[in-house]
Amino acid sequence: MKSIVILISGRGSNMEALLAAGLPARIAAVIGNRPDAKGLATAAAQDVATAVVDHKAYGTRAEFETALAAEIDRHRPDLVVLAGFMRVLGDDFVRRYQGRMMNIHPSLLPAFPGLHTHRRALEAGVRIHGCTVHFVTPSLDNGPIIIQAAVPVRADDDEKSLAARVLAQEHVIYPQAVRWFVEGRLFLGADGRVLLDGAGIPEGALLVPAPEQSGATLRALAESG
Ligand code: GRF
Repeated sequence: MKSIVILISGRGSNMEALLAAGLPARIAAVIGNRPDAKGLATAAAQDVATAVVDHKAYGTRAEFETALAAEIDRHRPDLVVLAGFMRVLGDDFVRRYQGRMMNIHPSLLPAFPGLHTHRRALEAGVRIHGCTVHFVTPSLDNGPIIIQAAVPVRADDDEKSLAARVLAQEHVIYPQAVRWFVEGRLFLGADGRVLLDGAGIPEGALLVPAPEQSGATLRALAESG
């Protein structure tokens, strides 16, 4: 059975979704870079091992990342899952876990990398927004896309309502991506392409939730051809 280490910085709702998903994998540890990350208590309450590698305790990013890598490697994970981990990671760290580290980002990448994605989506007036799980490569919020979910942006949306609609889908696609990986079906090919079951991206790697979850807008669009 493959094992996973999850990195968090705060609330940890994606981590919780992963713990609840009944994945055929061992969750070896949840590691936070902030001692007060709420998700650490949630994980501990479920008897998952937790650790803190506090970035503030290190003088440089390189020192922090050396300590973080040592803590991760102690658990010998097959996969490192960034679940709301809010530190930018250096190239050496990223290369160390190339092809076995994933991230979730609250936008339809490559649109809106970085922070405040929901506010920026509203400002840009996009009609479709969503979330992306990708393998992590050295450039920020970029990297081979594994799965995306799309949600409509409604006329009366504010940042909060849009974030909630996207987050509900994050909790669906992240467990799916991790499941593919731990089942040994998902790989990052040498050419940087994502392979599922030995081939390119399947239909299931785009999720457009049912109208009752995401509003009637998408259905209306589809029906009007
Ligand atoms: C999520 O929206 C995730 O996409 C982003 O940070 C947020 C973390 O939320 N990277 P949580 O800690 O998983 O609840």
